[in-house]
Amino acid sequence: MNRVICIDGPAASGKSTVSKLIAEMSGIKYVDSGALYRIATWQALEAGIDTNDAEAVAKFITGLKVDFVVKGNRVAYEVNGEEPGDKIRTPEINKHVSPVSAVPEVRTIVTKWLRDMRSVGDIVVEGRDIGSVVYPDSPYRFYLDADAETRTARRYKEDIQKGFIQNADQVKASLLNRDKIDSSRKTAPLKIPEGAIVIDTTPLTAEQVAAKIIELSK
Ligand code: CDP
Repeated sequence: MNRVICIDGPAASGKSTVSKLIAEMSGIKYVDSGALYRIATWQALEAGIDTNDAEAVAKFITGLKVDFVVKGNRVAYEVNGEEPGDKIRTPEINKHVSPVSAVPEVRTIVTKWLRDMRSVGDIVVEGRDIGSVVYPDSPYRFYLDADAETRTARRYKEDIQKGFIQNADQVKASLLNRDKIDSSRKTAPLKIPEGAIVIDTTPLTAEQVAAKIIELSK
């Protein structure tokens, strides 16, 4: 059975950076579950769906087609033959992604996609419910956290590089709002999976966190 390293945690806790490093350093494939929820949100918005209308979102998701392509050390996602890139990381998507992710039908479909990805080889999967719902039997489950100021500073820097115009207070409010919705929803809320190892990444570099997780996943 292929190994699955599960990395959960709140917004901007370092999951993506650390998971990509783990993939690079240990030669396994990187799987970004948040990108799938972001793609669902982006496509729903493009189709003019009201993201607060759970029924409409549920109906829409059953017809959504995403292709999975292994590219180097990651599983890439294509919609109509193209990777969406930063189109799914805008402040607008950040605003709508948590309500879309709370819809049970969306979670059922994305969870199935994520479970199927194990067939590509050993994987490192980052998200909110990976160790609690998607792969609860994996022995390698981690929960990353960092204080709100550190998380805001990290995301603000990334957003500026992507050209999104927002001030640090807006970035912080958006992160905290998503955390609140993600941890209070009924289906698969963000929480520390039972038995997972918790790492406070506030004082650590991404390289230090990645090295620690690789060591603990041997
Ligand atoms: O990178 P960041 O932590 O900001 O977010 P992300 O991992 O791209 O996830 C975006 C959103 O997708 C989250 O705020 C959740 O609402 C949702 N998500 C989820 O519900 N379950 C997952 N396994 C991953 C993401």
